[in-house]
Amino acid sequence: MLNNLIRDRGREGRRGYTLPRFDVERVSLEKVLPKQSLRKEKPRLAEVDEPAVIRHYTNLSRENWGIDTNFYPLGSCTMKHNPRANEAAAAVPGFAGLHPLQPEAQTQGALQVMYEAQGFLSEVSGFPAVSLQPMAGAQGELTSILMIKKYFEDAGDEKRTTVLVPSTAHGTNPATATMAGFGSKEIGLDEHGCVDVEELRAMVDETTAALMITNPNTCGVYEHNIPEIANILHEAGAFLYMDGANMNAILGRMRPAEAGVDVMHFNLHKTFSTPHGGGGPGCGAIACSEALAAFRPDPVVGKSEESYHLARPEKSIGRVAGFHGNFGVVLKAWNYIKMHGPELRDVTDMAVLNANYIRARLRGTYRIPYDELCKHEVVVQPPKGKKALDVAKGLIDHGFHPPTIYFPLVVKEAMLIEPTETESKETLDDFIGAMLELAESSPEELQEAPINAPTRRLDEARAARQLKARW
Ligand SMILES: Cc1ncc(COP(=O)(O)O)c(C=O)c1O
Repeated sequence: MLNNLIRDRGREGRRGYTLPRFDVERVSLEKVLPKQSLRKEKPRLAEVDEPAVIRHYTNLSRENWGIDTNFYPLGSCTMKHNPRANEAAAAVPGFAGLHPLQPEAQTQGALQVMYEAQGFLSEVSGFPAVSLQPMAGAQGELTSILMIKKYFEDAGDEKRTTVLVPSTAHGTNPATATMAGFGSKEIGLDEHGCVDVEELRAMVDETTAALMITNPNTCGVYEHNIPEIANILHEAGAFLYMDGANMNAILGRMRPAEAGVDVMHFNLHKTFSTPHGGGGPGCGAIACSEALAAFRPDPVVGKSEESYHLARPEKSIGRVAGFHGNFGVVLKAWNYIKMHGPELRDVTDMAVLNANYIRARLRGTYRIPYDELCKHEVVVQPPKGKKALDVAKGLIDHGFHPPTIYFPLVVKEAMLIEPTETESKETLDDFIGAMLELAESSPEELQEAPINAPTRRLDEARAARQLKARW
């Protein structure tokens, strides 16, 4: 356990590094930076030696949970193993040392990677046009809905004020609709956990701009009515947007464009493997139909004869990120896709098999609200009289990261388990064993958990309202 901040362990002048001698002329900062950008005093950094830095971060990491230390079945997050080969590709000096302002003639290799990545995403989605700019799934959603908005503005259609969002949606969906300036209306589910088609039919009218559907949805259920849903929207002149954050469950098995979707986002970091715990880095690339292609963010990568260039789509919504988006994430995704090739389908099949194995083994002990073939994740409820929070805390004592709890909101005491495709049967069996054991524990015993973690249970409401982020 750490007992103070790293800064408290330092002494003025103590160093753990030496820098190489300057091999360029020294220029004073005053000459190159505007006055208001210059610091008035030195930054308060820890002045420590190398062992202190190593021990500080090693000890911190030991108090943390990560995919490299534990099984991490956090529903809706796809916390899977990320092959180290992707990291090696991103660290190649020719890529890592590039500056985004270098001219196209010097960055042909990087532009080729982006161009090919656009092509791969086109291939797996069925859409003719892609943009790699958005830096997160949520930003990919916002980009897509802003493109739809601009489409209607361009067509002089001022009536489109509403975006429809299913009750299972990730919170970023209604947030996106609001941020883009639309009102959002919620649609309920049918008995299979899918969007209620009849309710949708009754809601769609000339004010509808789009429906945001997640497939597979956040109950892990495949939205098998997408073609019919797309027809309903298209007949009313509206668009179907698909939240593709869960593409690892359908990759190589279903192309959203062929089912009638108009625009979608990918979570490149989840599906194509970039470590993304703690909020970044990410890429929420979007793919869309011909009708929306001209509205994509600026720039996209084009190719003429043998060279690659950046281009602005004709009616672009403009930039949604600095420079070219998160190039490192695109590069890792490109590498991951190249490594797998057509075997990407196996990724999908394993993700689905693993979730269904857990569903089958927990059935009878845990309640399963949608007990049909699921995709990459499964929602369960603890046995009656037990709380999802307590089971989740109990899992920590068994050495597992808890699944997502109390989401999706439509299921009471929900535990959303996403094992991902990279886990072995042995790991799944250990996890299932722990879940079954916890189901047998008394509620009083469970309320004590966790007893082996660096901190016991926190008062979460107080932590949120009276946050003290200092030591
Ligand atoms: C279904 C769904 N939509 C959207 C998002 C938002 O993605 P991001 O966290 O990259 O913004 C997520 C996050 O995992 C998600 O699961």
